[in-house]
Amino acid sequence: MTAPVTRPESRAFFALAAAAVVGLVMSGLGGCTPASSSDDDGATASPTPAPVALEPTLADAAPDGFFVGVTTGGGGHLGGPSPQDDPANAELVAAQFSSVTPENAAKWEVLRPAQDTFDFDAFDAVVEAAEANGQRVRGHTLLWHSQNPAWLKSGTFTPDQMRELLHEHIATVVGRYAGRVAAWDVANEIFTDEGVLRQENPFIAALGVGIVGDAIRWAHEADPEAKLFLNDFDVETPGPKVDAYLALIADLQAQGVPIDGMGLQGHLSTQYGRPKQLQSVIEKFAALDLDVEITELDVRMPVSGDGPSKADLLGQAQYYADVAAACMAVERCTGITVWGVSDKNSWVPFTFPGEGAALMFDEDLAPKPAFEAFRETLAEGRG
Ligand code: XIL
Repeated sequence: MTAPVTRPESRAFFALAAAAVVGLVMSGLGGCTPASSSDDDGATASPTPAPVALEPTLADAAPDGFFVGVTTGGGGHLGGPSPQDDPANAELVAAQFSSVTPENAAKWEVLRPAQDTFDFDAFDAVVEAAEANGQRVRGHTLLWHSQNPAWLKSGTFTPDQMRELLHEHIATVVGRYAGRVAAWDVANEIFTDEGVLRQENPFIAALGVGIVGDAIRWAHEADPEAKLFLNDFDVETPGPKVDAYLALIADLQAQGVPIDGMGLQGHLSTQYGRPKQLQSVIEKFAALDLDVEITELDVRMPVSGDGPSKADLLGQAQYYADVAAACMAVERCTGITVWGVSDKNSWVPFTFPGEGAALMFDEDLAPKPAFEAFRETLAEGRG
């Protein structure tokens, strides 16, 4: 299922992107210099706290009210400090984006080190930084099969206890950030690609699908203003998984469950081709009177020692432009969040060996063709 990197219908875009890249280089990247440089001995100098006057910013290029988001509070896969502690990264976060999602800081394994303990330090830092930057926060996530603490995974709980644990968690976490976290991915990845409920989710295993509606109701009680989403990957193309969500959401709505939106993660790979039916999927969810967001966009590619070629980068740029265009075309598509600032900190190489280079900024935090293509498509506005 490999897709050719160049396609005839992309020629106009490639010409545009190539011109844009040349233009960026010629103009010194709009005041932005790469984050590292070489001194006279040829040794690499330490990264200079960077750049960042890439004007107009992504947030400015997008239509008013449209959220352009990015993760912070992440880097868990690196085992080291959060990229938000890197000044150059933090500057890009602050300058380019209007929304942030905690990459890991609001997951159970971080928030719940022990059954009777909540640790809000990491998420507090994300929310406080976002508030200082005037950014919206999307919370992620309350009910998931992954990144749960050992005590939850290995403990023995009755169904009633599982229900009470989840209720307490949602009431406490959503309640703490009420009025500050504008949207929540309440339930994450609850279906397999075949559209079957994931039994490795311990809450679903114990309590069945009904717990999804309860979780949304509890989140609504804790913060009536927060927009409440379901969220998943591999829902960028029609199929059984999309159908399962459409059916579940219709059912939840019939029960009066206050669901507001559907999140399409958007973890794409150039190996699998462009998501040409993305707009039609967004339209299906919008037709249920939902907001839709692209919540975790990245576009990975096979990488070798030499790094991506120019053609690889232009091909990737087309994916970013496609996603922006599909979202722009549907009024109820209210935002796009990218899953990390730069290739320096992306989760991709750790999860998909042999693939990488998935984000809009490279390992030196310099913008890639994807940045320019994404920004231009946002700037074109609603079609
Ligand atoms: C990933 C993070 O980026 C990594 O740092 C972590 O080690 C694993 O989780 N879908 C999701 C996200 O909903 O929470 C995942 O984030 C990526 C896939």
